[in-house]
Amino acid sequence: MTTITVSSGPIATVTLNRPDVRNALNDALFRELTTWARGVRGDGAIRAVVLQGAGPVFSAGADLQWMSRMAGYTREENLADAHEAATMFQALDALPVPVIGRIHGAALGGGAGLAAICDVVVAADDAIFGFTEVTLGILPAMISPYVVRKIGVSAARELCLNGARFSAARAREIGLVHEVVPAAELDAAVARQTALFRKAAPSAVAATKRLLNDVAGRRPGDVLALTVDAIATQRVSPEGQEGMRAFLERKTPGWVITPGEDGPSKA
Ligand code: COA
Repeated sequence: MTTITVSSGPIATVTLNRPDVRNALNDALFRELTTWARGVRGDGAIRAVVLQGAGPVFSAGADLQWMSRMAGYTREENLADAHEAATMFQALDALPVPVIGRIHGAALGGGAGLAAICDVVVAADDAIFGFTEVTLGILPAMISPYVVRKIGVSAARELCLNGARFSAARAREIGLVHEVVPAAELDAAVARQTALFRKAAPSAVAATKRLLNDVAGRRPGDVLALTVDAIATQRVSPEGQEGMRAFLERKTPGWVITPGEDGPSKA
């Protein structure tokens, strides 16, 4: 049985699909998500990915049945298994397309970690969040680099150490969430966010996502060469040239997908 379902098209949807256990993340799900993420190309076919959960919540984080069974495994098996999970988070983080998180119900532990990896997060106002691992006697290991990068050391120290559950409003305050709406308006808000990526040049979005990861937390002087190379490459690229020319000539660039279309416009 598959643990995720994926819809294709320029706005792809990946649905965590283990609703009976609140989309808890187990080894099968880690493998399926990694395989899917590695197959995504930054060629413009997919403009954005919506990451969502089936059933009452987004995700209850690591599958605690599966995690607790690891006591019966060797140290090597434990390491290999954890490596598989860490690889999934890394593969999602490296996606060359923007990921929009649609959070309803709850995003806890690894579920909150998935939210941290998303580029844009829209949450229902009654959703709850939490890095609850310490309340279960474990720790937010594989997600920690993404959490610290997203919410900073101060909020991470508070929320990963006390394991408290917190509101969507608080999640927005600390930068984990970008937009909070009533639950009934969640799909409309997600659609508004994804619509923005129908206008953005795919190669520019992919290069910008890579650039932001590369410069985050580094001194400007240390990334100067990298930033110079990035613009020198992109402005002479086909999309760079087409985009600037289209603006100057008051035309629509060919990559823009107008509502109702599922491919680039020919204008
Ligand atoms: N791993 C494995 N199973 C889980 C799970 C998890 N992380 N979270 C929930 N489940 C299972 C429950 O054991 C229950 O199974 P059962 O029907 O066999 O009893 C089922 O999913 C439904 O859970 P329940 O708590 O009844 O659902 P709810 O809708 O009332 O609450 C949550 C949903 C997510 C708020 C709640 O399940 C929860 O707090 N889960 C733990 C989240 C957590 O701290 N995760 C961090 C992991 S590191």
